[in-house]
Amino acid sequence: MEDDLKKISDGALRDENGHLCLEGVPLEKVAKDYGTPCYLYSHQVLTNRINSLQAAFAPLSPLICYSVKANSNLTILKLMKHYGLGLDVVSEGELRRAIKVGFPSMKIVFAGVGKTTQEIDLAVKHQIFCLTVENEEELAQVEERAIKNRSCLRCLLRLNLDIDIDTHHYVKTAKKESKFGLDLTTAARLLTRRKKWLGARIVGIHFHLGSQIKETIGYELALKKAKAFCQENNFTPEILDIGGGFGIHYAPQDQVCPITTFASVIKEALARWAKVKLVLEPGRYLVGNSGFLLTEVLYIKQRPDGKTFVIVDAAMNDLVRPSFYNSYHHILPVRKTLGGTFVADVVGPICETGDYLARERRLPGSLKRGDLLVIAGAGAYGFSMASNYNSRRRPCEILVQDKNTSLIRKRESFSDLWRLEEL
Ligand code: LLP
Repeated sequence: MEDDLKKISDGALRDENGHLCLEGVPLEKVAKDYGTPCYLYSHQVLTNRINSLQAAFAPLSPLICYSVKANSNLTILKLMKHYGLGLDVVSEGELRRAIKVGFPSMKIVFAGVGKTTQEIDLAVKHQIFCLTVENEEELAQVEERAIKNRSCLRCLLRLNLDIDIDTHHYVKTAKKESKFGLDLTTAARLLTRRKKWLGARIVGIHFHLGSQIKETIGYELALKKAKAFCQENNFTPEILDIGGGFGIHYAPQDQVCPITTFASVIKEALARWAKVKLVLEPGRYLVGNSGFLLTEVLYIKQRPDGKTFVIVDAAMNDLVRPSFYNSYHHILPVRKTLGGTFVADVVGPICETGDYLARERRLPGSLKRGDLLVIAGAGAYGFSMASNYNSRRRPCEILVQDKNTSLIRKRESFSDLWRLEEL
């Protein structure tokens, strides 16, 4: 049990006399003070992850740009800034969050498959560190806007290296058939003509292989292919951005390479290559295991055929990952009880059969209406993918630090739901 909690929470979640506590704060008290469902983030896990990543990659002195899409709460971003990280943004909204928190422009990279003219203008205006280019027309657009603004912008060519990562189909981003990146023929053509562009300065290469990557092989292959591509095209990149993707433990028994192994494989591959400024765009690794979704059991419903549903007050609108990717999130009862167990689906109140948080999960036999469950691994792509479906208010977010809690996003009110509508 202790070991399991370590794997899924870096030890921040602990059983204290039969009560689950996050950084010493009893989850029952959090539910009482803030209501459920609510998102909780452990400051200890966040700093632990930042430190581990920085230490593992220290020999390469990379620019670590936290991927805002994983969790865009301003307090989380502020923490990233405090520890010297930069940001990877994908939209004007994310770029404006970065500006709001006061990130130095030179620590912002902008990746995304369809940047609007307005987004490109904002990137030029703020003179961000670099922007990744995903197609030929986009490059022309960056050139036009930069020249128009009497400026220029560093650009990286996002390569589609045709690499198949062992992860969920929806989060593979480097396969030939995906919408991402430039095929190598087009990229080579753009490189040969790169001197022609004065506003869009092609200074490097970008790739992002996918998400929740558990092994190093993809990075090895990608770096090999990217290096061969640059050599064949006589191009010495100043910047090499290898995207994000480092996986985490969702289940204690998951087999995931430690961050130190990813770092040493990448270091090894780069040692045999040019001296480049390395950029990393980790999202999930930094925030995934720091976050928990706390929920209350509303009802337990048994079908005559033996099937049981535990109906909770959190739903797919709060955490869509199980419904969308069939992903596993570890679920624990907040109060430890002795006795038997039963197997049930943990489902939300939304009117969709796909609204579930867990399927065929073993739970304590004593579980009843009013009990609390905590859903782990919810720090990345949890709140950031939440919606108001079924006119449900999005949950509040709470930061837990040294036995204290602080509200970092209020629960939405009912009037928030129709705030932008006209009657
Ligand atoms: N850089 C780029 C260009 C990306 O597209 C992504 C994620 C990242 C960095 C960060 O990747 P990470 O280190 O977090 O794996 N909603 C899905 C994940 C989608 C990832 C999209 N791109 C999920 O819940 O699993």
